[in-house]
Amino acid sequence: MQSLQEKAAEWSGVDAEDAFAIDGTNLYEKLGLQTFISLSTNFYEREQIGCRTGKIGTWIFYMVRVYADEEEWFRSIFSKSKKEDAIQNQYEFFVQRMGGPPLYSQRKGHPALIGRHRPFPVTHRAAERWLNHMQQALDATSDIDLDSKTKMLNFFRHTAFFLVAGDELKNQNQAAPCKNCKHPGKHAAV
Ligand code: HEM
Repeated sequence: MQSLQEKAAEWSGVDAEDAFAIDGTNLYEKLGLQTFISLSTNFYEREQIGCRTGKIGTWIFYMVRVYADEEEWFRSIFSKSKKEDAIQNQYEFFVQRMGGPPLYSQRKGHPALIGRHRPFPVTHRAAERWLNHMQQALDATSDIDLDSKTKMLNFFRHTAFFLVAGDELKNQNQAAPCKNCKHPGKHAAV
C-alpha cells in the first residue's frame, strides 16, 4: 500500500527531496520574521490593487485572497476561523518549520497538520485552490527571492497533497464497515 508521502509525491508532482529542500537553507534567517507575516497576511487577506470606477472608468484590480475568494465552497472552509488567528497560526508554523524559533509549538503544541485539518474537506480541488492563493501571495510578497519562492512552493505543494492523502484516509476509515455489524461509517476508527 502507498504511504501518505508516496501519494503526496505522486499527486503533487514534487518528490520528498525537492519538498524538503527547504531544510538545506535557513529561510527564516534569509527572509526574516516580517516577510513571513506579510506572506500569511497576503494569503488570507483581500488586497485591493485597483478597479474600474466612475464614468470614464479607472481600472481597479483585485487580488482576491482566501477570505474573499469568489468561490463560496472554498471560502466556507475557513468560515469558522478568525482571520487574525489564521494568519498568526500560519506564519508561526512557517517560521518554525523554516528554521526560526518554535513560535507555533510554544503557543499551540505539536503542529500535527493532518489532525488539525481533520474538520476540513481537504480535497484535490481545495489543495489546488489553496496553492493558487499561495502562489499569488508569494508573488505579492516582494522580499522573497526566486530561489526561496521555488523551495517554498515545492514544500507547500507536497504538503498540500500530503494533507489530501490524510483526508482520504480519514474518509476511508469513516466509511469502513464495523467488524460486528454492517453499518458503514457508524463506528469510524480514526
Ligand atoms: C490543501 C489545502 C488546505 C486547506 C483547504 C487548508 C485549510 C485550513 C483551514 C480551514 C485552517 C483553519 C484556519 C485556522 O484557524 O488557522 C487551516 C489551518 C492551518 N493550516 Fe491549512 N489548509 C490547507 C493546506 C495547508 C498547507 C499546505 C499547510 C502547510 C504547509 C497548512 C498549514 C496550516 C496550519 C499551520 C494551520 C493552523 C492549524 C491550527 O493551529 O489549528 N495548510 N488550514
